[in-house]
Amino acid sequence: MGVHFGISVLFVVCLLGLSANAKDFTITAPPGSDITSLLLKTFNEACQFPTKSSVLIPKGEYKLRQIEMMGPCKAPIRITLQGTVKADGNVNGNDYWVAFRRINGFKLNGGGVFDGEGNAAWRANNCHKMALTQCKKLPISIRFDFVTDAKIRGITSMDSKNFHINVLGARNMTLEEITIIAPEESPNTDGIHVGRSVGVQIINSNIKTGDDCISIGDGTRDLLVERVTCGPGHGISIGSLGLYVKEEDVTGIRVVNCTLINTDNGVRIKTWPSAACSTTASGIHFENIILKNVTNPILIDQEYCPWNRCNKNKPSTIKLVDISFKHIRGTSGNKDAVKLLCSKGFPCKNVEIGDIDIKYTGADGPATFQCSNVSPTLMGTQVPKACSSPVTKLPGQ
Ligand SMILES: *[C@@H]1O[C@H](CO)[C@@H](O)[C@H](O)[C@H]1NC(C)=O
Ligand SMILES: *[C@@H]1O[C@H](CO)[C@@H](O)[C@H](O)[C@H]1NC(C)=O
Ligand SMILES: *[C@@H]1O[C@H](CO)[C@@H](O)[C@H](O)[C@H]1NC(C)=O
Repeated sequence: MGVHFGISVLFVVCLLGLSANAKDFTITAPPGSDITSLLLKTFNEACQFPTKSSVLIPKGEYKLRQIEMMGPCKAPIRITLQGTVKADGNVNGNDYWVAFRRINGFKLNGGGVFDGEGNAAWRANNCHKMALTQCKKLPISIRFDFVTDAKIRGITSMDSKNFHINVLGARNMTLEEITIIAPEESPNTDGIHVGRSVGVQIINSNIKTGDDCISIGDGTRDLLVERVTCGPGHGISIGSLGLYVKEEDVTGIRVVNCTLINTDNGVRIKTWPSAACSTTASGIHFENIILKNVTNPILIDQEYCPWNRCNKNKPSTIKLVDISFKHIRGTSGNKDAVKLLCSKGFPCKNVEIGDIDIKYTGADGPATFQCSNVSPTLMGTQVPKACSSPVTKLPGQ
């Protein structure tokens, strides 16, 4: 019995070994055509293939309607986008244009472009001006939901209608050499949003957009952002945290060797007053950051309350612990270079500041460094001098 079992296992292993070459599928369609049905059918076939497979979308421009590529797949799968896919059809009211879901062992590469064709939608969009419930929902261009052991490399997202890329429930995902392009005035076009994910890395990427370059939502753990250039846009942001009841802690965020050019913010953490939950955001480190003409270079804002959607008198219940800002240098576009405005209910704990050199050359200068409800540990030099300026109100957000 044991011997037979062993032999048949060996036999099966050999068979698998023989067919272990990747199975390659190619989307063959005339330029300009709509490849939605063909791509979905091919993806499903590849996904059901017992060993590694790949799907190639060759060079050329194609139309693509809303599509959901859903695992689990039987083996790792790669999608190589060499061409450009353009958002087609009316997907307004849906929360995505292209979704990759529940795939373990996933690669997306090829140098191609996802063009969200956002132009007309931005003009009709009013979400940035009013409460979220009132506005018309526009689709996020690319969603990765519960995708694990994944590498996304060398793709471009342009002119998304809403966020460009949204990562939810990921484990071990690297996004590398990503290019994001949308105009400075395009509303809500966050570059990459990561939430409820563990072990995501965003490396060597270039993000020009109208909203946050990278935004980090609740439940994010062990995130690395390295060698990312942002601008225009709203910079790299943790939060906002505390708007919803069932939020999870944020922990282990490293932002290193990044450059921000002409952005509204540099690196910031924002939490709502009168938060609906009381989570902790800890182990957040910003290091080796270059700023060029950044409006609010370093900002902790625990009174984040756009459109007066909260009770500002109740302090934020989000605890900020083990936060560091080191080797941050460059120019500010505003005299308020550093603002650490922590919650009066839960002052920030264990904040380290070292080697800050931020210059402001405007007539109302020099640059200021404001602190409330925080006593940071200081190392190296600080220009402007740490916590030396009276706290002023933030301009309306
Ligand atoms: C992470 O994912 C990559 C595939 O992108 C895989 O090669 C690697 O083994 C995974 N690492 C862990 C710790 O699972
Ligand atoms: C940042 O880049 C420099 C080289 O440009 C490198 O020496 C350093 O290790 C990097 N820092 C981090 C924290 O990755
Ligand atoms: C500084 O950045 C602002 C946007 O925040 C931009 O309007 C302005 O042109 C920039 N100035 C320079 C000199 O690049």
